[in-house]
Amino acid sequence: MKFFMDSANIQEIQHGLELGLVDGVTTNPALLAREAGDWQEIASSICSMVQGPVSLEVMGSEAGEMVQEARELARLGSNIVVKIPMTMQGLKAVRILTDENIATNVTLVFSPLQALLAAKAGAGYVSPFVGRLDDLGQNGMDLASQIIDIYENYAIDTQIIVASVRHPGHVLESALMGADIVTVPYKGLNMLAEHPMTDLGIKSFLQAWQTREK
Ligand code: G3P
Repeated sequence: MKFFMDSANIQEIQHGLELGLVDGVTTNPALLAREAGDWQEIASSICSMVQGPVSLEVMGSEAGEMVQEARELARLGSNIVVKIPMTMQGLKAVRILTDENIATNVTLVFSPLQALLAAKAGAGYVSPFVGRLDDLGQNGMDLASQIIDIYENYAIDTQIIVASVRHPGHVLESALMGADIVTVPYKGLNMLAEHPMTDLGIKSFLQAWQTREK
């Protein structure tokens, strides 16, 4: 399973790269809005730092606007994947962009049939937002599981990015069900790495060493 970092923060991405835990990056307008400075420079820097795909989202709502924006975003780096919201207009834009060889990630997916339509339109990636479904009292991971089943049934090669990941359980379930990718915020990486028994073990081994017979 690939790990993408859900962040537009250069320091966070750099740290994740040093750990070998960044196979790609996903951003969204809210994440970019948190960063000071020119967003295009930030996006270009991320594209040069990261070898894998970097998702950047369009802001327009009409297919024509999205396509125009996507063409401009695609110039920021050869690894740009344009995030297109899951709407009818979005699907139309995905079809056009796919024909132009511009990679797309259909985002804000909340139903398995939306994911099927996104794949049929030609999306390279699809992003089910599992945490936001959990927020509604549903089980977001059911959505990821159903998309995996549907894509397997028809040998669809659109890759699934499990998004809106809130806790290690989401990552564990994604790995168990064979999701292609999870996109994890920086603080989520720490949650995955840390375990109190590891800390306790280090402490007890150190103590044993320091009090050894000499
Ligand atoms: O990858 C999508 C993500 O940025 C949304 O996460 O936590 O705002 O639902 P969240």
